[in-house]
Amino acid sequence: MTKYSRITGWGKYAPEKVLTNQELEKMVDTSNEWIITRTGIRERRIAAPEETTATMSVEAARAALDKAQLRPTDLDLIIVATSSPDHFLPAVSSTIQDMLGAKDVGAFTLVAGCTGFVYGLATAHQFIANGNCENVLVIGADLISRFVDWEDRNTCVLFGDGAGAVVLTASDMPGGVLSFVLGSDGSLGDALIVPAIGCKEPFSQKVLNERTHYIRMDGRRVFKFATRIMSKAAVEAVKASGLSLSDIDLLIPHQANLRIIELARRHLGLPEDKVFINVDRYGNTSAASIPIALCEAIEEGRVNEGDNVVMVGFGGGLTWAATVVHMGVMETLPRLVAWRFVPVGSLSFEEMKVIARATMDSLAFKASALLLPLYSKTGLRRRRK
Ligand code: ACO
Repeated sequence: MTKYSRITGWGKYAPEKVLTNQELEKMVDTSNEWIITRTGIRERRIAAPEETTATMSVEAARAALDKAQLRPTDLDLIIVATSSPDHFLPAVSSTIQDMLGAKDVGAFTLVAGCTGFVYGLATAHQFIANGNCENVLVIGADLISRFVDWEDRNTCVLFGDGAGAVVLTASDMPGGVLSFVLGSDGSLGDALIVPAIGCKEPFSQKVLNERTHYIRMDGRRVFKFATRIMSKAAVEAVKASGLSLSDIDLLIPHQANLRIIELARRHLGLPEDKVFINVDRYGNTSAASIPIALCEAIEEGRVNEGDNVVMVGFGGGLTWAATVVHMGVMETLPRLVAWRFVPVGSLSFEEMKVIARATMDSLAFKASALLLPLYSKTGLRRRRK
């Protein structure tokens, strides 16, 4: 039977070191004013030398697992979206799986630029919907500062480092990931590219001299693409979810550039308070941008039980993706309250089955929260399956 996949945990990590526009003014020929008016970015976080994509991911993942009240070994799958892995081999997803202590849990890395996290959510949803997995950890993480040419003002002012993670859990209750749209147009690949150090041009003295191991970007082409694709993808995902734009409580766009976000908002006809923005404080954290924004939105009370959230991104590839997620873990309660006022005779057998399952889910969730401290004391393993 098809399952629903709900977001039951979320976590984020941003390095301590803040790099301001004023500091960048001393590094390249730029100005605070240029960066703010063209991008909306005021500062970004830069990883410390000992930090890696794996260490940042583990911090975010632990927070997400904590929220979901799961142990790493409760996971069935780990999906890591990144374009800046610790190594080409082994996959950073395996490093993260090991660091988390998620013994023997399947793990893979997915590359779709800044769009990677939404691709990861869509993939995780498949594993849950077809009954193969109960709990999937999806991480979006990037340490792009190590791939940025700090002499290139076209790119170095834009990016920051960070990681975000969610746990998707199987549920019988309708909700969670309602729809998604995935897209790619490889003909635009050279608009955002690390030209060398892949198999096409392995590392060499020439690469070093020409600095082609760093990110190169045609900002205008990416800008044009992004403004066209963001609203289009969001509209398609909303349509596929069976909702309409007026049902959307919050849009969480990829945080690359305030002007791109603002244009998408206007194309969609959404009021300002329905769009989440934190690009000013983080810059473009690539695959981490959407999950970090989602976490902050939840922490700030901008996302509540039962809200419909659209997450939409674009990135290297070029790629794009959007998803509509009906948020809520404990929604069973209001549903049950509503049910009390509905004549039982008007409910179909299927609806009654859903309410019965919801009651069980709700009671199990509450009981397990109470029992968790006891379980950890006695060393018993808790499975919310
Ligand atoms: N400081 C000062 N001047 C600069 C800087 C800088 N940091 N960077 C570029 N300029 C100059 C350029 O050299 C250019 O000068 P020129 O006209 O003499 O050649 C001038 O500013 C204007 O350049 P534009 O390209 O017209 O500036 P634009 O308004 O398009 O803004 C920007 C540039 C911010 C890069 C914008 O195009 C953009 O945001 N594009 C999208 C980038 C993006 O989102 N990338 C991430 C993709 S997601 C992923 O997968 C990682």
